Amino acid sequence: MTTSAPFEREDGLTLKFTGWIVGGITWVSAAIFGLYIIAFYGGAVQIGQPERWNEHLPALFDPASPSTVIAIGVHFVAGTILLLAGPVQLIPHIRNTYPAIHRWLGRTYVGAGFISGLGGLAFILMRGTIGGLPMNIGFGLYGALMILASVETYRHAAARRLEQHRAWAIRLFALAIGSWLYRMEYGLWFALTDPIGHTKTFDGWFDIVMSFFFYVPNLIVAELLIRGRNIQTNTMWHLFCTGILTLSTVFVAIGTYFFTTQFWGPQILAWLRTQ
Ligand code: HEM
Repeated sequence: MTTSAPFEREDGLTLKFTGWIVGGITWVSAAIFGLYIIAFYGGAVQIGQPERWNEHLPALFDPASPSTVIAIGVHFVAGTILLLAGPVQLIPHIRNTYPAIHRWLGRTYVGAGFISGLGGLAFILMRGTIGGLPMNIGFGLYGALMILASVETYRHAAARRLEQHRAWAIRLFALAIGSWLYRMEYGLWFALTDPIGHTKTFDGWFDIVMSFFFYVPNLIVAELLIRGRNIQTNTMWHLFCTGILTLSTVFVAIGTYFFTTQFWGPQILAWLRTQ
């Protein structure tokens, strides 16, 4: 069919445009989450009331155990860096035009990935999560994968194995947005259900599913992206991807609205008023 080429070009543009929209809204949303961490957890330290860390989850700050406080605190700082820096690394224009920025931000990014994974794992080993064994396993595996992806991303970049570096960087990014996605998925669930399957101690059936669901699907999408790179695409495939990206945009918009109006926004505003 001689008419397919212009259609495919249009589909490709629509797909690219939808990709930019979902990427942009994800970054804004993740940045609001990062700002919330600075405002709430950083703000509590700033006013000398670190015990406020326990307002949402009960055992994050325990003066009797400085090592667990340091582990989770360091993981907060590294996590915030990951949320803010990740999308910059994926912008092709910056990668190609300013390679020095890509390299330095990349080192910071993999360092933050490694430290957030290590800090989270240390906290689990010393204290355990609120949800008990299933959450310990889910979050423990998440931390271990984060450490592995950080090391591999750096190792392949240093050895100039760019194809492997790219693949591991995509996996690392997919993992890093998991902690943000965890809140988005809870936000959507809370908005749509009562919430069913959730308990205050995070051991309901939904909580158990969520101990894995915030990073396993992202990793599957990452694998599809990595492997699908060389597959010949067509109009149907572009339409399918555009549909998925549009649904993702709606999902992220609802989750961000819920979390920003109910949790992050009020905490950020309260902190800003004290500055
Ligand atoms: C982008 C990376 C990350 C960010 C931004 C982040 C952020 C946070 C925040 C803000 C909390 C406090 C709870 C809340 O206010 O929602 C938390 C708790 C926690 N995070 Fe992370 N995190 C990240 C990565 C990780 C990783 C890689 C692990 C690895 C194991 C991890 C393990 C934990 C654990 C165990 C808790 C405490 C849960 C409990 O008390 O039961 N986090 N994280």
